[in-house]
Amino acid sequence: MASSASFAALVMILGLVLVFGVIVPGAEARPRAFFVFGDSLVDSGNNNYLATTARANAPPYGIDYPTHMPTGRFSNGYNIPDLISQKIGTESPLPYLSPQLTGEKLLIGANFASAGIGILNDTGIQFVNIIRMYRQLENFREYRSRVEALIGASEAKTLVNQALVLITVGGNDFVNNYYLVPNSVRSQQYPLPEYVKFLISEYRKHLKKLHGFGVRRVLVTGTGPLGCVPAEMAQRSTNGECSAELQEAAALFNPQLERMLLDLNRKIGSDVFIAANTAQMHNNFISNPEAFGFTTSKVACCGQGPYNGIGLCTAISNLCPNRDLYAFWDPFHPSEKANRIIVEEIMSGSQTYMNPMNLSTILALDATT
Ligand SMILES: *[C@@H]1O[C@H](CO)[C@@H](O)[C@H](O)[C@H]1NC(C)=O
Ligand SMILES: *[C@@H]1O[C@H](CO)[C@@H](O)[C@H](O)[C@H]1NC(C)=O
Repeated sequence: MASSASFAALVMILGLVLVFGVIVPGAEARPRAFFVFGDSLVDSGNNNYLATTARANAPPYGIDYPTHMPTGRFSNGYNIPDLISQKIGTESPLPYLSPQLTGEKLLIGANFASAGIGILNDTGIQFVNIIRMYRQLENFREYRSRVEALIGASEAKTLVNQALVLITVGGNDFVNNYYLVPNSVRSQQYPLPEYVKFLISEYRKHLKKLHGFGVRRVLVTGTGPLGCVPAEMAQRSTNGECSAELQEAAALFNPQLERMLLDLNRKIGSDVFIAANTAQMHNNFISNPEAFGFTTSKVACCGQGPYNGIGLCTAISNLCPNRDLYAFWDPFHPSEKANRIIVEEIMSGSQTYMNPMNLSTILALDATT
């Protein structure tokens, strides 16, 4: 018969396990961390904390988000990181600059992305105070130290090794740099094919640095069809066709990005980098919007002027009543519905879309190792 003293001791031990279990969950108990790097396609609100015009912190942004309030996401509702978080069964990681990103919340991951940035430091200079790629990587280093202080170096290493990473960058290096103004500095420096090579070699350096921090699974999206976004249609299209030069830029950049990623994997000896062919995913609904339930893939839901592609989406812009019928929410960014289609392809697309494998394959592989 157990004495009341040993029973009390047992209760105490269980209590300690519970307390520590809650404060510092073991690696097995913890969902996979998720880290996000890049531009406005994946920024979940970092720019709200910065003095910059590149923000989505006013209505009607967020009109279809659960709170129906703007959050800093460049979407009517969820963005791609939110939808990937839902697929892997975690909460959306908070923006790195959010004051709420402390304690437990750090272990979910973090979103380092910042609207307006590119691969290059000189991309998006008109937005002044944004978190450029090298700085996002520095912030990740700082994040890792904070997690080490919380759960110890060895657990922190495991957390980073087992994490999923998403990175989306490159479109702004064309739209907000090379093609921002006629005769831009970069366009005088490089013909387009040379500029693309330069971007790929700079991008490669960022990715090697990221790998050096210990991440082992990185989804890398290409650019969308840059010449077909409502903003470019409004500025450059005469007959409703996509802008040829921006389409040419995307057509050069995306395949070289994919080759660079596969080459990195060969050198590393492991499938760390996964190329997501977002251009092809977008092209599907641009060439046949009705097949995906859209009434248009050319006109933005929110905006003004031709294709609703001029200026910003604001409270006084045209706003469509049903966002699900539009591939584009604003002059540059897909609607939540379009984001859902893209994330379905990321999850279970064939090798045309996800090379060398899709996210469901990654999840299955990593669950057994
Ligand atoms: C970008 O800017 C940072 C800070 O000034 C600098 O450390 C880094 O070397 C720059 N990157 C390139 C490729 O010039
Ligand atoms: C992608 O995921 C599905 C499961 O949803 C799987 O059946 C398919 O074989 C995968 N494709 C590739 C190329 O990995």
